[in-house]
Amino acid sequence: MQVALTGATGFLGLRLLRRLLDTHRSLTLLAHAGSGNALRRVTRYFELTGAPAALTATLPDRLRVVETDLALPRLGLSERAFQELADGIGTIWHSAGSINLEGDLPELRRTNVEGTRHVLELAAASRLRPRVHHVSTAFVAGARREGVAYEDELKDTCGFENAYERSKYEAELLVHAWSREHGRPVLVLRPSILVTDLPPHPDLPAHPLLVIERILRDALRAAGPQCDSGASPCVPGSHAGRRPRVRMVGHPHGRLNLLQVEHAAEVMVRLAGRTPSGGVDTYHVVHDRDVPVPTVVALLERLVPLSVELVADRPGTPSALEALLDFYPGMTAYLAHRRRFDDTRVRALLGPSAASSRVDLDYLWSGLSPHARLLPGPPGPPATPSASARCA
Ligand SMILES: NC(=O)c1ccc[n+]([C@@H]2O[C@H](COP(=O)([O-])OP(=O)(O)OC[C@H]3O[C@@H](n4cnc5c(N)ncnc54)[C@H](OP(=O)(O)O)[C@@H]3O)[C@@H](O)[C@H]2O)c1
Repeated sequence: MQVALTGATGFLGLRLLRRLLDTHRSLTLLAHAGSGNALRRVTRYFELTGAPAALTATLPDRLRVVETDLALPRLGLSERAFQELADGIGTIWHSAGSINLEGDLPELRRTNVEGTRHVLELAAASRLRPRVHHVSTAFVAGARREGVAYEDELKDTCGFENAYERSKYEAELLVHAWSREHGRPVLVLRPSILVTDLPPHPDLPAHPLLVIERILRDALRAAGPQCDSGASPCVPGSHAGRRPRVRMVGHPHGRLNLLQVEHAAEVMVRLAGRTPSGGVDTYHVVHDRDVPVPTVVALLERLVPLSVELVADRPGTPSALEALLDFYPGMTAYLAHRRRFDDTRVRALLGPSAASSRVDLDYLWSGLSPHARLLPGPPGPPATPSASARCA
Protein backbone atom coordinates (compact mmCIF):
# COMPACT_ATOMS: atom_id res chain seq x y z
CA MET A 1 0.00 0.00 0.00
CA GLN A 2 1.19 3.49 -0.85
CA VAL A 3 2.95 5.56 1.79
CA ALA A 4 2.55 9.34 1.61
CA LEU A 5 4.98 11.77 3.22
CA THR A 6 4.53 15.49 3.82
CA GLY A 7 7.62 17.66 4.30
CA ALA A 8 9.94 15.34 2.34
CA THR A 9 12.15 18.28 1.31
CA GLY A 10 12.71 19.33 4.92
CA PHE A 11 15.63 18.79 7.30
CA LEU A 12 13.92 15.78 8.89
CA GLY A 13 11.72 14.77 5.94
CA LEU A 14 14.72 14.05 3.71
CA ARG A 15 16.10 11.61 6.28
CA LEU A 16 12.70 10.00 6.75
CA LEU A 17 12.39 9.58 3.01
CA ARG A 18 15.85 8.01 2.81
CA ARG A 19 14.84 5.46 5.49
CA LEU A 20 11.40 4.76 4.04
CA LEU A 21 12.92 3.94 0.66
CA ASP A 22 14.75 1.05 2.33
CA THR A 23 11.44 -0.73 2.83
CA HIS A 24 9.02 0.73 0.31
CA ARG A 25 9.26 0.42 -3.44
CA SER A 26 7.45 3.69 -4.05
CA LEU A 27 6.25 6.71 -2.11
CA THR A 28 3.94 9.66 -2.67
CA LEU A 29 5.46 12.99 -1.70
CA LEU A 30 2.94 15.64 -0.69
CA ALA A 31 5.29 18.47 -1.60
CA HIS A 32 4.91 22.18 -0.90
CA ALA A 33 3.31 23.73 -4.00
CA GLY A 34 5.27 26.59 -5.51
CA SER A 35 8.35 25.90 -3.41
CA GLY A 36 10.73 24.51 -6.00
CA ASN A 37 11.03 21.18 -7.74
CA ALA A 38 10.70 18.61 -4.96
CA LEU A 39 12.15 15.72 -6.95
CA ARG A 40 15.19 17.78 -7.88
CA ARG A 41 15.72 18.86 -4.27
CA VAL A 42 15.40 15.32 -2.97
CA THR A 43 17.77 14.04 -5.66
CA ARG A 44 20.29 16.70 -4.72
CA TYR A 45 20.17 15.56 -1.08
CA PHE A 46 20.87 11.98 -2.14
CA GLU A 47 23.81 13.14 -4.28
CA LEU A 48 25.28 15.35 -1.57
CA THR A 49 25.06 12.66 1.10
CA GLY A 50 26.79 10.04 -1.02
CA ALA A 51 23.81 7.75 -1.64
CA PRO A 52 24.62 5.02 -4.17
CA ALA A 53 24.18 6.38 -7.70
CA ALA A 54 22.07 3.32 -8.55
CA LEU A 55 19.60 4.25 -5.80
CA THR A 56 19.51 7.94 -6.76
CA ALA A 57 18.80 6.97 -10.36
CA THR A 58 15.61 5.14 -9.28
CA LEU A 59 14.07 8.21 -7.60
CA PRO A 60 12.05 9.50 -10.59
CA ASP A 61 10.39 6.07 -10.93
CA ARG A 62 9.82 5.53 -7.24
CA LEU A 63 8.60 8.95 -6.12
CA ARG A 64 5.28 10.42 -7.14
CA VAL A 65 5.09 14.13 -6.34
CA VAL A 66 1.72 15.72 -5.57
CA GLU A 67 1.87 19.47 -5.05
CA THR A 68 -0.09 20.53 -1.98
CA ASP A 69 -0.46 23.41 0.42
CA LEU A 70 -0.98 22.40 4.01
CA ALA A 71 -2.59 25.71 4.86
CA LEU A 72 -5.43 25.29 2.35
CA PRO A 73 -8.61 23.23 2.66
CA ARG A 74 -8.18 19.82 0.95
CA LEU A 75 -4.45 20.70 0.86
CA GLY A 76 -5.23 22.98 -2.08
CA LEU A 77 -6.48 20.09 -4.24
CA SER A 78 -9.77 19.80 -6.11
CA GLU A 79 -12.42 17.62 -4.47
CA ARG A 80 -11.77 14.88 -6.96
CA ALA A 81 -7.97 14.99 -6.70
CA PHE A 82 -8.23 15.02 -2.90
CA GLN A 83 -10.47 11.92 -2.88
CA GLU A 84 -8.29 10.09 -5.40
CA LEU A 85 -5.22 10.87 -3.34
CA ALA A 86 -6.91 9.74 -0.13
CA ASP A 87 -8.08 6.45 -1.66
CA GLY A 88 -4.58 5.57 -2.80
CA ILE A 89 -2.86 5.97 0.57
CA GLY A 90 -2.24 3.27 3.18
CA THR A 91 -0.03 5.30 5.54
CA ILE A 92 0.51 9.03 5.96
CA TRP A 93 3.66 10.44 7.51
CA HIS A 94 3.07 14.07 8.42
CA SER A 95 6.43 15.78 8.81
CA ALA A 96 5.74 19.11 7.09
CA GLY A 97 5.42 22.18 9.21
CA SER A 98 6.88 25.54 10.05
CA ILE A 99 9.73 25.52 12.56
CA ASN A 100 9.95 29.31 12.55
CA LEU A 101 10.76 30.15 16.17
CA GLU A 102 10.25 33.83 15.39
CA GLY A 103 6.90 33.31 13.65
CA ASP A 104 3.69 34.75 15.00
CA LEU A 105 0.89 32.52 16.19
CA PRO A 106 -1.61 33.09 13.32
CA GLU A 107 1.06 32.23 10.73
CA LEU A 108 2.25 29.16 12.65
CA ARG A 109 -1.30 27.99 13.26
CA ARG A 110 -2.03 28.09 9.52
CA THR A 111 0.77 25.66 8.74
CA ASN A 112 1.09 23.57 11.88
CA VAL A 113 -2.47 23.40 13.22
CA GLU A 114 -4.65 23.85 10.11
CA GLY A 115 -2.08 21.85 8.14
CA THR A 116 -2.45 18.94 10.56
CA ARG A 117 -6.24 19.29 10.38
CA HIS A 118 -6.12 19.00 6.58
CA VAL A 119 -3.83 15.96 6.72
CA LEU A 120 -6.18 14.30 9.21
CA GLU A 121 -9.10 15.09 6.88
CA LEU A 122 -7.21 13.33 4.11
CA ALA A 123 -6.78 10.28 6.36
CA ALA A 124 -10.47 10.37 7.30
CA ALA A 125 -11.55 10.61 3.64
CA SER A 126 -9.68 7.49 2.60
CA ARG A 127 -11.52 4.19 2.22
CA LEU A 128 -8.29 2.45 3.21
CA ARG A 129 -8.30 3.91 6.75
CA PRO A 130 -4.59 4.84 6.48
CA ARG A 131 -2.35 4.85 9.50
CA VAL A 132 -1.24 8.34 10.54
CA HIS A 133 2.25 9.11 11.82
CA HIS A 134 2.38 12.67 13.12
CA VAL A 135 5.70 14.43 13.74
CA SER A 136 5.36 16.69 16.74
CA THR A 137 8.13 17.98 19.03
CA ALA A 138 9.31 17.27 22.56
CA PHE A 139 8.91 21.03 23.04
CA VAL A 140 5.13 20.71 23.38
CA ALA A 141 6.23 20.46 27.03
CA GLY A 142 6.32 24.27 26.73
CA ALA A 143 7.83 26.62 29.29
CA ARG A 144 8.29 24.01 31.97
CA ARG A 145 12.00 24.45 32.53
CA GLU A 146 12.72 21.86 35.22
CA GLY A 147 11.76 18.33 36.13
CA VAL A 148 10.79 15.51 33.79
CA ALA A 149 8.46 15.71 30.78
CA TYR A 150 6.71 12.40 30.18
CA GLU A 151 5.51 10.92 26.91
CA ASP A 152 1.85 10.77 27.95
CA GLU A 153 1.71 14.41 29.09
CA LEU A 154 0.08 17.13 27.02
CA LYS A 155 -0.62 20.19 29.12
CA ASP A 156 -0.37 23.93 28.72
CA THR A 157 -0.19 24.79 32.41
CA CYS A 158 3.32 26.29 32.17
CA GLY A 159 2.60 28.21 28.98
CA PHE A 160 4.99 28.17 26.04
CA GLU A 161 8.34 29.76 25.26
CA ASN A 162 7.14 30.78 21.79
CA ALA A 163 4.28 30.50 19.30
CA TYR A 164 5.93 27.54 17.56
CA GLU A 165 5.66 25.41 20.69
CA ARG A 166 2.04 26.42 21.17
CA SER A 167 1.13 25.63 17.56
CA LYS A 168 2.65 22.14 17.85
CA TYR A 169 0.79 21.60 21.13
CA GLU A 170 -2.48 22.60 19.49
CA ALA A 171 -1.75 20.26 16.58
CA GLU A 172 -1.32 17.38 19.03
CA LEU A 173 -4.65 18.23 20.65
CA LEU A 174 -6.26 17.93 17.21
CA VAL A 175 -4.63 14.55 16.70
CA HIS A 176 -6.08 13.27 20.00
CA ALA A 177 -9.55 14.57 19.17
CA TRP A 178 -9.40 13.02 15.69
CA SER A 179 -8.27 9.65 17.04
CA ARG A 180 -11.12 9.62 19.57
CA GLU A 181 -13.72 10.74 17.04
CA HIS A 182 -12.73 8.23 14.35
CA GLY A 183 -11.57 5.40 16.63
CA ARG A 184 -8.26 5.35 14.79
CA PRO A 185 -4.69 4.85 15.98
CA VAL A 186 -2.13 7.64 15.54
CA LEU A 187 1.59 7.53 16.16
CA VAL A 188 2.89 10.80 17.61
CA LEU A 189 6.65 11.24 17.40
CA ARG A 190 8.21 13.96 19.51
CA PRO A 191 11.83 14.63 18.56
CA SER A 192 13.97 17.06 20.52
CA ILE A 193 16.19 19.59 18.70
CA LEU A 194 17.51 17.88 15.59
CA VAL A 195 21.10 18.42 14.51
CA THR A 196 23.58 17.05 12.00
CA ASP A 197 27.31 17.14 11.35
CA LEU A 198 26.69 17.38 7.61
CA PRO A 199 28.25 20.72 6.63
CA PRO A 200 25.91 23.51 5.54
CA HIS A 201 25.20 23.63 1.81
CA PRO A 202 22.99 26.01 -0.18
CA ASP A 203 21.08 23.08 -1.71
CA LEU A 204 20.22 21.54 1.68
CA PRO A 205 17.62 22.65 4.24
CA ALA A 206 19.10 24.90 6.88
CA HIS A 207 20.35 23.46 10.14
CA PRO A 208 17.75 24.37 12.81
CA LEU A 209 20.38 26.01 15.08
CA LEU A 210 21.54 28.37 12.33
CA VAL A 211 18.66 30.67 13.15
CA ILE A 212 20.28 31.49 16.50
CA GLU A 213 23.56 32.26 14.81
CA ARG A 214 21.74 34.56 12.40
CA ILE A 215 19.94 36.38 15.20
CA LEU A 216 23.14 36.97 17.13
CA ARG A 217 24.93 38.15 14.00
CA ASP A 218 22.05 40.48 13.02
CA ALA A 219 21.95 41.94 16.52
CA LEU A 220 25.70 42.50 16.45
CA ARG A 221 25.43 44.27 13.10
CA ALA A 222 22.44 46.37 14.18
CA ALA A 223 24.11 47.44 17.41
CA GLY A 224 27.08 48.77 15.47
CA PRO A 225 30.70 48.84 16.66
CA GLN A 226 30.83 47.77 20.28
CA CYS A 227 34.40 47.45 21.40
CA ASP A 228 35.89 50.48 19.65
CA SER A 229 33.08 52.77 20.78
CA GLY A 230 32.95 51.43 24.33
CA ALA A 231 29.25 50.57 23.84
CA SER A 232 29.73 47.19 25.52
CA PRO A 233 32.28 45.78 27.90
CA CYS A 234 34.66 43.73 25.79
CA VAL A 235 36.95 40.80 26.40
CA PRO A 236 39.97 39.64 24.41
CA GLY A 237 39.03 37.14 21.67
CA SER A 238 40.91 33.90 21.12
CA HIS A 239 42.47 35.43 17.98
CA ALA A 240 43.24 39.06 17.37
CA GLY A 241 40.78 41.71 18.50
CA ARG A 242 38.25 41.95 21.25
CA ARG A 243 34.70 40.70 21.39
CA PRO A 244 31.70 42.33 23.10
CA ARG A 245 30.41 40.62 26.20
CA VAL A 246 26.65 39.99 26.33
CA ARG A 247 24.76 38.91 29.42
CA MET A 248 22.08 36.36 28.58
CA VAL A 249 19.66 34.83 31.03
CA GLY A 250 20.58 31.18 31.40
CA HIS A 251 21.46 28.50 33.87
CA PRO A 252 25.06 27.31 34.27
CA HIS A 253 23.69 23.80 34.90
CA GLY A 254 21.12 24.10 32.11
CA ARG A 255 20.92 21.40 29.47
CA LEU A 256 19.29 20.88 26.12
CA ASN A 257 18.40 17.72 24.28
CA LEU A 258 19.92 17.59 20.80
CA LEU A 259 19.63 14.49 18.65
CA GLN A 260 21.24 13.50 15.35
CA VAL A 261 18.53 13.92 12.70
CA GLU A 262 19.62 10.78 10.86
CA HIS A 263 19.25 8.75 14.04
CA ALA A 264 15.88 10.35 14.81
CA ALA A 265 14.56 9.29 11.39
CA GLU A 266 15.74 5.74 11.92
CA VAL A 267 14.11 5.51 15.36
CA MET A 268 10.86 6.98 14.01
CA VAL A 269 10.64 4.47 11.17
CA ARG A 270 11.32 1.61 13.57
CA LEU A 271 8.62 2.85 15.96
CA ALA A 272 6.17 3.04 13.06
CA GLY A 273 6.74 -0.65 12.50
CA ARG A 274 5.38 -1.57 15.94
CA THR A 275 1.81 -2.70 16.46
CA PRO A 276 -0.30 0.33 17.46
CA SER A 277 -2.33 0.30 20.68
CA GLY A 278 -5.43 1.58 18.92
CA GLY A 279 -5.34 5.11 20.37
CA VAL A 280 -2.61 7.77 20.29
CA ASP A 281 0.87 6.31 20.92
CA THR A 282 3.32 9.08 21.80
CA TYR A 283 7.09 8.69 21.88
CA HIS A 284 9.90 11.05 22.86
CA VAL A 285 12.59 10.64 20.22
CA VAL A 286 15.45 12.13 22.21
CA HIS A 287 19.11 11.64 23.08
CA ASP A 288 19.88 9.75 26.27
CA ARG A 289 22.39 12.45 27.23
CA ASP A 290 21.59 16.13 27.25
CA VAL A 291 24.06 18.74 26.03
CA PRO A 292 25.13 21.16 28.78
CA VAL A 293 24.12 24.77 28.12
CA PRO A 294 27.77 25.92 28.49
CA THR A 295 28.57 23.72 25.44
CA VAL A 296 25.82 25.46 23.48
CA VAL A 297 27.25 28.81 24.60
CA ALA A 298 30.74 27.74 23.50
CA LEU A 299 29.26 26.83 20.10
CA LEU A 300 27.62 30.25 19.76
CA GLU A 301 30.89 31.94 20.70
CA ARG A 302 32.66 29.98 17.98
CA LEU A 303 30.07 31.01 15.43
CA VAL A 304 29.71 34.68 16.32
CA PRO A 305 32.35 37.07 17.70
CA LEU A 306 30.68 37.50 21.07
CA SER A 307 31.44 36.53 24.62
CA VAL A 308 28.33 35.24 26.40
CA GLU A 309 27.96 35.51 30.14
CA LEU A 310 25.07 33.53 31.63
CA VAL A 311 23.22 35.52 34.28
CA ALA A 312 20.26 34.66 36.51
CA ASP A 313 18.17 37.74 35.70
CA ARG A 314 17.78 40.25 32.90
CA PRO A 315 20.36 43.02 33.24
CA GLY A 316 18.80 46.18 34.71
CA THR A 317 20.72 48.44 32.32
CA PRO A 318 21.23 46.41 29.17
CA SER A 319 23.75 47.42 26.52
CA ALA A 320 22.35 48.17 23.03
CA LEU A 321 23.31 44.67 21.99
CA GLU A 322 21.62 43.06 24.98
CA ALA A 323 18.50 45.12 24.38
CA LEU A 324 18.34 43.86 20.80
CA LEU A 325 18.66 40.25 21.92
CA ASP A 326 15.82 40.81 24.35
CA PHE A 327 13.53 40.77 21.30
CA TYR A 328 14.00 37.02 21.07
CA PRO A 329 13.03 35.79 24.52
CA GLY A 330 11.28 32.75 22.98
CA MET A 331 14.61 31.48 21.81
CA THR A 332 17.16 32.63 24.37
CA ALA A 333 14.86 31.16 27.06
CA TYR A 334 16.23 27.73 26.20
CA LEU A 335 19.51 28.61 27.88
CA ALA A 336 17.63 28.39 31.19
CA HIS A 337 16.18 24.91 30.58
CA ARG A 338 17.07 22.07 32.90
CA ARG A 339 14.28 19.57 32.22
CA ARG A 340 14.69 16.03 31.01
CA PHE A 341 12.52 14.20 28.49
CA ASP A 342 11.51 10.73 29.61
CA ASP A 343 11.72 8.18 26.78
CA THR A 344 10.99 5.01 28.74
CA ARG A 345 8.57 3.75 26.09
CA VAL A 346 11.05 4.09 23.25
CA ARG A 347 13.78 2.34 25.20
CA ALA A 348 11.38 -0.41 26.26
CA LEU A 349 10.47 -1.07 22.62
CA LEU A 350 13.82 -0.60 20.91
CA GLY A 351 16.30 -1.43 23.66
CA PRO A 352 19.89 -0.14 23.65
CA SER A 353 19.77 0.47 19.88
CA ALA A 354 17.61 3.52 20.61
CA ALA A 355 20.75 5.24 21.95
CA SER A 356 22.87 7.30 19.58
CA SER A 357 26.45 8.50 19.62
CA ARG A 358 27.52 11.59 21.48
CA VAL A 359 26.58 15.10 20.40
CA ASP A 360 29.46 17.33 21.46
CA LEU A 361 30.93 20.69 20.50
CA ASP A 362 32.94 19.32 17.57
CA TYR A 363 29.94 17.45 16.20
CA LEU A 364 27.78 20.56 16.37
CA TRP A 365 30.50 22.74 14.88
CA SER A 366 30.83 20.43 11.84
CA GLY A 367 27.16 20.91 11.00
CA LEU A 368 27.19 24.68 11.40
CA SER A 369 30.60 25.95 10.48
CA PRO A 370 30.58 28.21 7.43
CA HIS A 371 34.11 26.95 6.79
CA ALA A 372 33.13 23.31 6.65
CA ARG A 373 31.76 23.32 3.11
CA LEU A 374 33.29 20.02 2.15
CA LEU A 375 30.38 18.81 0.08
CA PRO A 376 30.62 18.74 -3.71
CA GLY A 377 29.16 21.65 -5.63
CA PRO A 378 26.13 21.32 -7.89
CA PRO A 379 26.69 19.31 -11.08
CA GLY A 380 24.16 21.27 -13.14
CA PRO A 381 21.82 24.18 -12.51
CA PRO A 382 21.40 24.69 -8.77
CA ALA A 383 18.22 23.39 -7.15
CA THR A 384 15.78 26.08 -6.00
CA PRO A 385 16.54 26.69 -2.30
CA SER A 386 13.79 25.87 0.19
CA ALA A 387 12.41 28.88 0.68
CA SER A 388 4.55 17.28 37.22
CA ALA A 389 7.28 19.51 37.62
CA ARG A 390 7.75 23.19 38.24
CA CYS A 391 7.46 25.48 35.27
CA ALA A 392 10.58 27.44 35.98
N1 LIG B 1 14.15 20.53 13.03
C1 LIG B 1 14.01 20.27 14.31
O1 LIG B 1 14.92 20.48 15.12
C2 LIG B 1 12.72 19.69 14.81
C3 LIG B 1 12.65 19.32 16.16
C4 LIG B 1 11.47 18.77 16.65
C5 LIG B 1 10.40 18.61 15.80
N2 LIG B 1 10.49 18.99 14.49
C6 LIG B 1 9.32 18.80 13.63
O2 LIG B 1 9.71 18.02 12.52
C7 LIG B 1 8.95 18.36 11.38
C8 LIG B 1 9.89 18.61 10.23
O3 LIG B 1 10.73 19.69 10.54
P1 LIG B 1 11.99 20.04 9.64
O4 LIG B 1 13.12 20.29 10.53
O5 LIG B 1 12.11 19.04 8.56
O6 LIG B 1 11.52 21.45 9.02
P2 LIG B 1 11.98 22.13 7.67
O7 LIG B 1 13.35 21.75 7.28
O8 LIG B 1 11.65 23.58 7.80
O9 LIG B 1 11.00 21.46 6.60
C9 LIG B 1 9.63 21.75 6.61
C10 LIG B 1 8.96 20.95 5.50
O10 LIG B 1 7.57 21.29 5.48
C11 LIG B 1 7.23 21.74 4.16
N3 LIG B 1 6.20 22.76 4.23
C12 LIG B 1 6.26 23.93 4.90
N4 LIG B 1 5.12 24.64 4.72
C13 LIG B 1 4.33 23.88 3.93
C14 LIG B 1 3.03 24.06 3.38
N5 LIG B 1 2.31 25.18 3.61
N6 LIG B 1 2.52 23.08 2.61
C15 LIG B 1 3.22 21.95 2.35
N7 LIG B 1 4.45 21.72 2.85
C16 LIG B 1 5.00 22.68 3.63
C17 LIG B 1 8.51 22.31 3.60
O11 LIG B 1 8.48 22.36 2.19
P3 LIG B 1 9.39 23.49 1.46
O12 LIG B 1 10.79 23.24 1.90
O13 LIG B 1 9.22 23.20 0.02
O14 LIG B 1 8.86 24.80 1.88
C18 LIG B 1 9.52 21.27 4.11
O15 LIG B 1 9.49 20.13 3.32
C19 LIG B 1 8.10 19.58 11.78
O16 LIG B 1 6.80 19.14 12.05
C20 LIG B 1 8.78 20.09 13.05
O17 LIG B 1 7.86 20.71 13.90
C21 LIG B 1 11.63 19.52 13.98
